[in-house]
Amino acid sequence: MKLRKVIIPAAGLGKRMYPAAKVIPKEMLPIAGKPAIQHVLEEIIEAGFEEIILITNPNKSSIKEHLNFILSSSTRSKSASNISITSVKQGKPKGLGHAILQAEKIIKKEPFAVVLPDMLLQNSNKKNNLALMKKNFDSNNTSGILFSSASKKDIPLYGIAKIKKIKDFPGRFLVKSIIEKPTIKKAPSNLFAVGRYIFRNELMQFLRKAKSDQNEEIQLTDAIDSFIKDGADIHGYNLKGKVYDCGNKLGFLIANIEYSKKDPEIGYHFRKYIKKDA
Ligand code: G1P
Repeated sequence: MKLRKVIIPAAGLGKRMYPAAKVIPKEMLPIAGKPAIQHVLEEIIEAGFEEIILITNPNKSSIKEHLNFILSSSTRSKSASNISITSVKQGKPKGLGHAILQAEKIIKKEPFAVVLPDMLLQNSNKKNNLALMKKNFDSNNTSGILFSSASKKDIPLYGIAKIKKIKDFPGRFLVKSIIEKPTIKKAPSNLFAVGRYIFRNELMQFLRKAKSDQNEEIQLTDAIDSFIKDGADIHGYNLKGKVYDCGNKLGFLIANIEYSKKDPEIGYHFRKYIKKDA
């Protein structure tokens, strides 16, 4: 079945971005003058999705309002006018896996993508990583996860994979297992999930069966690992480009600097300004 739907989990409290994110959702904080969520929307439109399912909480209605505003005002792009947004509320913050499960009724029997909005991807050579994963899924029906290399100190912050090379596919590998936030010692590699996933529909069954962890959260990573153990193939992709974790203050600041340098409107003057100050 063709991939049409993408889930954006955006119900989290964003505590690492307090006090800024106390009243304004962190997804609405601007990166180079645009709310972070808008960068993600552009990536999704370019990849050719048809329906966004936004997981929010009752205090974050501005995200959907903003997405609808952008979609209704982008008169030039045909793919933008074809995309619809549905939102679902996650009552309690019980983890990423639980957030995704809230979309089960809307996903129905279809495959789906998951895009984490606090991870911004700056694609190299205009190559949209998500678009490539979608194209491959539409031809081979195999789930896929995007990875990049973490520095040692960042390994305990992410989902880390054990992989096996596939001969004939450069830039692609098989995910043998995945573990959430391991210690450096227990990490099977330094490859971390950057927040772009495409799943066959069966993944939902494994999310439903997944047990809560010590923080009472249902982890997407645990469901993926059980899915693999059950025999599912999952392809890992190497990110082409850079990823910025905008869910913490330092990552948010770095993303702002890097995106501002390349921004068509302010880039020239911003580059001049930081050179002068160096
Ligand atoms: C989540 C996932 C993790 C992934 C990360 C990317 O963690 O659980 O596997 O690597 O997103 O940002 P979180 O950042 O929600 O703690």
